[in-house]
Amino acid sequence: DDAGDLVNRPPVVTIMGHVDHGKTSLLDAIREANVVSTEAGGITQHIGAYQVEKNGQKITFLDTPGHEAFTAMRARGAQATDIAILVVAADDGVMPQTIESIKHAKAAGVPIIVAINKIDKQGADSTRVRTELLQHEVFVESMGGEVLDVEVSALKKTNLDGLLEAVLLQSEVLELKAPEKGPAQGLVIESKLDKGRGAVATVLVQRGMLSVGDIVVAGNEWAKVRALIDDKGEQVKSAGPSTPVEVLGFSGVPDAGDRFAVVESEARAREITEYRQRVIREKTAGGGAT
Ligand code: GTP
Ligand code: NA
Ligand code: MG
Repeated sequence: DDAGDLVNRPPVVTIMGHVDHGKTSLLDAIREANVVSTEAGGITQHIGAYQVEKNGQKITFLDTPGHEAFTAMRARGAQATDIAILVVAADDGVMPQTIESIKHAKAAGVPIIVAINKIDKQGADSTRVRTELLQHEVFVESMGGEVLDVEVSALKKTNLDGLLEAVLLQSEVLELKAPEKGPAQGLVIESKLDKGRGAVATVLVQRGMLSVGDIVVAGNEWAKVRALIDDKGEQVKSAGPSTPVEVLGFSGVPDAGDRFAVVESEARAREITEYRQRVIREKTAGGGAT
């Protein structure tokens, strides 16, 4: 029974919503307001995810547009997200991609928090947004439902704290836990071939502790972890549950959406990845029959 080893972990949040409703603006505003630069004037490194702290508790935000995160990850049976923030512009209301986002979140069983954005604008009508959401079975608190809704302005940075508090409230209900010891497992959320650093994967640790020196298999590729770099651009020795971190040392570039796991030896990592690469070659040689 390893239940005793479970610890609370931060919620992992993605932002979804209709085009131009303010997803990127909101992510940027939250990051600017809450991520402490490590040096004066220091710029937060972009690694596809970041963590903020609110009331001493961490929240992990994924940069991946929510619908992409859901479709790419779900196609592989993986789930990265605990909570989806649905951004709805108060001057525009519920639109086709709002409805798509609701469907994705519901299909994935991920709770929604509604961020009614652009409340600074002329013509902003948050009551209309709430009423329109009813028609798509999103019942916000003020309409007698249980979905948390928060009015914000990403532009004016209004009530971002209220949004973070709603995330923490929702997170408490979910009782998110994971072991923080033992071999790490998680997901690749971004990857690239970097001129100076070689194959780089940004991963989200979901359970266990990922440490420098670990042997990691992700998809068809493996790494002896040479370095771990956090969302502030700092080298760290290890990363626990819900932490996004860049991993250096991969033999090749794994795919976003690949699962990763720490294995016991380089020999085992080679065995697994060579097998997977052979399967892919054979499939390709097989003339496309699936
Ligand atoms: P896509 O990624 O293209 O779907 O858009 P997005 O949802 O990321 O929206 P984005 O953050 O790019 O914002 C779209 C436009 O709305 C930009 O011109 C923003 O400056 C503006 N905008 C975002 N938030 C607010 C807000 O709170 N108030 C006002 N007035 N404008 C906003
Ligand atoms: Na936009
Ligand atoms: Mg955007």
